[in-house]
Amino acid sequence: MSEAIPGYTYGTAQVAQSPVSLEEWELLKQTVLWTAEDEQYLRMAGEVLGDQVDAILDLWYGFVASHAHLVYYFTGSDGQPIADYLSRVRQRFGQWILDTCRRPYDQDWLNYQMEIALRHYRTKKNQTDGVQSVPMIPLRYMIAFIYPITATIREFLARKGHSAAEVDRMHQAWFKSIVLQVTLWSYPYTREGDF
Ligand code: HEM
Repeated sequence: MSEAIPGYTYGTAQVAQSPVSLEEWELLKQTVLWTAEDEQYLRMAGEVLGDQVDAILDLWYGFVASHAHLVYYFTGSDGQPIADYLSRVRQRFGQWILDTCRRPYDQDWLNYQMEIALRHYRTKKNQTDGVQSVPMIPLRYMIAFIYPITATIREFLARKGHSAAEVDRMHQAWFKSIVLQVTLWSYPYTREGDF
């Protein structure tokens, strides 16, 4: 499913080793109260969200498109959004929804987290899709995005007839995962040794 997605290099030799060790990662998980139950409910979320990815992306892209200060990060030097850039990133974003729910959070996962971090930062933004867009996304928007990415997923989690308690558990697991991921993605923005 994934190899056909342009620029999606998960688990390949093109992805460098994460500077965050598995030991540090373990402690980070403990810091958000991560448990085996969260893994179990993310798997459930993966089943629930599997056929809703396009609807979720329509909502998120609509949110970005309706805010000039956000769509700005997809624009070229003429100030217009680069359609090809938006659509290529969209495919990887869809895969990321599934990866968040289905992949084991192991060394490959940790490595790709750093890759995603660099793709939002000036180290690698625009390179994967060969575009000339804005050089980086400010950290403040990365962090603030945790809220919409978490709040808006709930209605999709609730669409397959699960109990309120199950929906809540899936939602909490999703929230923890997004906090963990955006925490890892803050790495390139921090001064050496401060992460
Ligand atoms: C790329 C998710 C914050 C704009 C991506 C990708 C994902 C993603 C999954 C594709 C990764 C890949 O290449 O495999 C998220 C999540 C965020 C977040 C979960 C916060 C919770 C933001 C914000 C913006 C943004 C605030 C600003 C509008 C972009 C852009 C790319 C991208 C422009 C393409 C980067 C490139 O040139 O490779 N994002 N993102 N993202 N995101 Fe985000």
